[in-house]
Amino acid sequence: MFSSLLSVLLASSALASPVKVNSFVTLPISKRVNLTGTRTLLERDLARVTHLRDKAHARLSGQPLASRAVISDQVFNEATTYLAAVDVGTPPTTFALIIDTGSSNTWVGATTPFVNTATTVSTGQSVAVSYGSGDFQVRHYPPNLPELNKPQGYGAPCGITFSLADHRALLPGTEVLDTVTLAPGLTITNQSIGVASSSDGFEGVDGILGIGPVDLTLDTLSPDTNSAIPTVTDNLFTQGTITQNLIGISFEPTNVDEIQNGELTFGGTDSTKFTGEIHFAPVTTVAPASEFWGITQSVRYGASTTIFNNLAGIVDTGTTLLLLPTSGFNTYTRATGAVEDATTGLLRVTNAQFNKLQSLFFTINGQTFEFTANAQLWPRALNTAIGGRANNIYLIVSSLGASTETGFDFVNGFVWLERFYSVFDTTNKQIGFATTPFTNSTIN
Ligand SMILES: *[C@@H]1O[C@H](CO)[C@@H](O)[C@H](O)[C@H]1NC(C)=O
Ligand SMILES: *[C@@H]1O[C@H](CO)[C@@H](O)[C@H](O)[C@H]1NC(C)=O
Ligand SMILES: *[C@@H]1O[C@H](CO)[C@@H](O)[C@H](O)[C@H]1NC(C)=O
Repeated sequence: MFSSLLSVLLASSALASPVKVNSFVTLPISKRVNLTGTRTLLERDLARVTHLRDKAHARLSGQPLASRAVISDQVFNEATTYLAAVDVGTPPTTFALIIDTGSSNTWVGATTPFVNTATTVSTGQSVAVSYGSGDFQVRHYPPNLPELNKPQGYGAPCGITFSLADHRALLPGTEVLDTVTLAPGLTITNQSIGVASSSDGFEGVDGILGIGPVDLTLDTLSPDTNSAIPTVTDNLFTQGTITQNLIGISFEPTNVDEIQNGELTFGGTDSTKFTGEIHFAPVTTVAPASEFWGITQSVRYGASTTIFNNLAGIVDTGTTLLLLPTSGFNTYTRATGAVEDATTGLLRVTNAQFNKLQSLFFTINGQTFEFTANAQLWPRALNTAIGGRANNIYLIVSSLGASTETGFDFVNGFVWLERFYSVFDTTNKQIGFATTPFTNSTIN
C-alpha cells in the first residue's frame, strides 16, 4: 500500500520541471476522503482540539499534563492530512510525510527505516511526540491524475489520507541533524529530525513535516527540554533558500474522494490561487490560542444574528470541521433549524431549511469574509464516505464542546480553508486570508 503511494509521489515529482524561480517552493497537495471505523469525524476533531488546548494550557502554566511523555504529546487528527515525498540524508532515503500546521516537529522512520548516511549527525538527545487517536490508511493515487500547474519553483505531489481506526500513535525516537530535500533541488542542511525508534498507528506513513509555530517544539527534546527546534520553514529562511519566513496554502472544495487540488508554497504566495488582496491579522495574544496559528474573529449568521464577538481561536489544517463555542453553536442551530445526526455527529438540515440557509460572515481584523450556505455543507457526494446517508444534507459546523472565553474558542478547520487562501507569516507574526475562485463555489 505504502510503496505504491510513494512510487506515485516519486513518479509525479520526476515529471515536475525543477526550474528555480524567485525563492518559492510549491508543493501540490491532494485531497482524499475515506473515513470508516468507529469514531465520527467530529469525535476525531474534538480529540485533537481538546488535546491541543490541554497541552497549551499545561505548557503555559508550567504544570506537567501527566507524565513527561504526555507533555510532549501532540494529537494528530488524521481526518485530513497531506503527504509530501521528502528526501533525508546523502544519498537520500525518501519518506512520505504528513504536512501539519498544528505541530512543528519533523519526524521520519515510522514505516520506511531511517538510514544513517554521510550527512547524518546524531545529537544524543531523545524526542517524544505522540499523535493520539487513530491510525492512518493511505491509499494510492489514481494513476492518471493530471499534473497541477506549477507556477513557480519546485513541484512535488502530496496526498491526503483520512484515518480509520482509533488507537494512539506514538513516536518516540532520537534526534539527528541531517540534510533534507523538500523538492528536487531544494535542500536544507542541518535540519533537526526525530527518527522514530518505534511507532504505532502510522501505517503507510513515515512521519510528520510540522509547519506550526516553532514554540510547539519546546519540551519535545530530552534532556535539552528548553530548546526550540527550528522547523523546516525556519531553516529554509535562515539558510537563505526562501526570502520570507512564510507559507501559503491553497485548498479547493471538491466532491470527489481523491483529487490533487491543493498547493503549499514555502517562502511566498501564489497569486494564481487567490483573488483580490491578502488581508492580514496579527497572531492573537490571547492564550492558549496564541501558542498556535491563532487569531481573533467575530462571526455573524445572515444579516444580524451574532454567533460570537471577538473571541480567540485557531486556524488549523489538521482539523476537518468548523468548530464553534457551544453558545455560538446553539445560536447557529436555532437559526438554521438543524438537528444533530447521531450517526455522523454532524448537524443535519432538511431541503427546505437548506434553501433558507444564510451565509456566515467572519470578521477578522476589520475584514469580513463571506462563508456561503454551500460552504456550510459537507459535500453531498461524500455523505456515505463519512457514514452518512446519500440523500441527507449535513453541515460542517460543529461545537467545540466548551463554553466561551477559554482563549481557544473556535477552530477554522480544513472546510473553512477550502474557501479562503491562507498565509502563515512567521516573520511578522500574522496570518493572511484572501478570497479564491472557489470562495462562492456551489460544488458541495
Ligand atoms: C476506504 O478504505 C478502505 C480500506 O482501505 C477500503 O476498503 C474502502 O473501499 C475505501 N472506501 C472508499 C469509498 O473508497
Ligand atoms: C545545527 O542545528 C542545531 C539545532 O537544530 C544547532 O544547535 C546548531 O548550531 C546548528 N549547526 C549549524 C552549523 O548551523
Ligand atoms: C460571493 O458572492 C457574494 C454575493 O453573494 C459577492 O458579494 C462576493 O463578492 C462573492 N465573492 C467572490 C470571491 O466572488
